Amino acid sequence: MSLIEGEEELIRNGVAEALLDHDRARESLIPLLLKVQGKLGYLPALAMELIAEALQIPAVDVYGLATFYNRFRLNPPGKHQIQVCMGTACYMVGGDIALDCFERRLEIGEDETTPDREFSLERVACVGCCTMAPVVVVDELVEGHVTPTRVDGILLSFGREIPKSAEKTEQEGENSP
Ligand code: FES
Repeated sequence: MSLIEGEEELIRNGVAEALLDHDRARESLIPLLLKVQGKLGYLPALAMELIAEALQIPAVDVYGLATFYNRFRLNPPGKHQIQVCMGTACYMVGGDIALDCFERRLEIGEDETTPDREFSLERVACVGCCTMAPVVVVDELVEGHVTPTRVDGILLSFGREIPKSAEKTEQEGENSP
């Protein structure tokens, strides 16, 4: 994901500050990554490269570790965060359909952020509202009984147009035998 204006400086400063608090030893890698993620909200590739350089280890090792642990977030959080519940109750009544709808309409996959950074999408475990399944949490607001039409309504409420490609694919799906 490309950086937005002024972000490179933020990243460089964030990494420099984190390095002040930790030894430049390989054992410091996870604490450093957590610290930088805490400051920036995610772990940009540039931050991982700078940390690798400071610790004198290959950048691929840092990237490998960050992708191994799901506590690390490699994409920036969107202005609006959409969490689709994929707990058993939601999955059984169409949680996967809701997730698929968001993916098509936003043209991103789960754990990704739209290029304009307006929306990020993730699947989550049970959020404790099973009677409202399938459930989606949008910016901490719980939406229940989410159908594809409701997905459109949620996105339209944020002024997001539905891409023609998503409409076309669904029409084709509806018309197929
Ligand atoms: S399984 Fe989705 S709210 Fe419980």
